[in-house]
Amino acid sequence: MDSIPKATPMLDALERPIHDLRISVTDRCNFRCVYCMPKHVFGPDYQFLKRSELLSYEEIERIASVFVDLGVRKLRLTGGEPLIRKDIERLIAKLAGIEGVQDLSLTTNGSLLTPKKAEQLYRAGLRRVTISLDALDGETFKSMNGVDFAPEPVLKAIDIAAVAGLSPVKINMVVKRGVNDNAVLSAAEYFKGSGHIIRFIEYMDVGNSNKWQADEVISAAQIRDIIEKKYSITPASPDYHGEVAQRWRYRDGSGEIGIIASVSQPFCGSCTRARLSADGSLYTCLFASSGHDIRALIRSGATDDELSTAIKGIWSARTDRYSEIRASQSVEIPKIEMSYIGG
Ligand code: GTP
Ligand code: 5AD
Ligand code: SF4
Ligand code: SF4
Repeated sequence: MDSIPKATPMLDALERPIHDLRISVTDRCNFRCVYCMPKHVFGPDYQFLKRSELLSYEEIERIASVFVDLGVRKLRLTGGEPLIRKDIERLIAKLAGIEGVQDLSLTTNGSLLTPKKAEQLYRAGLRRVTISLDALDGETFKSMNGVDFAPEPVLKAIDIAAVAGLSPVKINMVVKRGVNDNAVLSAAEYFKGSGHIIRFIEYMDVGNSNKWQADEVISAAQIRDIIEKKYSITPASPDYHGEVAQRWRYRDGSGEIGIIASVSQPFCGSCTRARLSADGSLYTCLFASSGHDIRALIRSGATDDELSTAIKGIWSARTDRYSEIRASQSVEIPKIEMSYIGG
């Protein structure tokens, strides 16, 4: 296989280039967020993937290299909670060493991000993190994370990340009606002027466990209304083509916020993301019902060229645009869980 990444990325059936690979390194998490891994489904008897089913770091590196050769420039590590996986910095070092990777990031709930870990991640080549935090007040946050975890350690983790150089830190807040919509303004205020960027995310119908209802979504327009009651914000242009978050800048110069409107304003038209589950299935959409078994291919001895040909075949046949056609789906389809495929 060529070691120099190709100049033109491959296109899918709707002419969308591949640009991002999101890699889930574990389906386990120490939180039980109501919108992601609700306790009544992910209880003590839940069968998580076995160690032998997980891709090794060497396998992930190999798959990622093939993707980079096909046009991927952004890699994001997710979970579950990726910091649960032992020595994740070893994987980061491998991925950071792939020629052609322009952006390497990680999404975490922050609960395991000690100063030592943050430093190890930075030294291995990680340059930014996104930390999930759904409210600043203890009662609301605890009711969302399902395990009685207080917000303070997460707030501390955000600062730890920034001090280690993993910045700007992005903060993900999923907004669910009646649960934390009253926490939007205080969260915006807390991070205003901090250099960290909070992004408010419309609650999505990923997976089947969260029993999503359309009326539980607080739309991007409603989120904006909440903020604009107090602060003046103005749209900012995207940082890159296909950026998921809409950027809004405070007019007083104290930074920016993001709003991710995947329900009310779907962005499938510019979706350049592929997803690899912890057990090596390739998904071409967050809402896919099934994936493509890449692990079987590598464990049966496929060469890099064979791997590349298989991935090209999968991507060129891709027609996914679930968020755009959600409203016209009359029956509920079985969907994979977000904790399995990554956020
Ligand atoms: P950067 O811009 O690289 O910092 O990351 P990002 O904006 O892609 O952010 P992140 O990866 O943290 O994604 C934020 C959230 O957007 C996710 O947790 C999802 O809720 C949502 N999201 C990301 N990608 C997709 C996607 O492909 N489809 C849909 N429907 N939602 C997505
Ligand atoms: N809707 C929107 N975002 C979700 N996430 C997980 N479940 C959902 C959902 N149902 C995202 C959150 C979290 C990341 C890991 O996944 O942004 O920060
Ligand atoms: Fe865990 Fe993140 Fe899912 Fe919450 S959203 S349960 S922290 S993987
Ligand atoms: Fe991409 Fe699927 Fe999300 Fe649309 S719904 S933006 S195709 S991952």
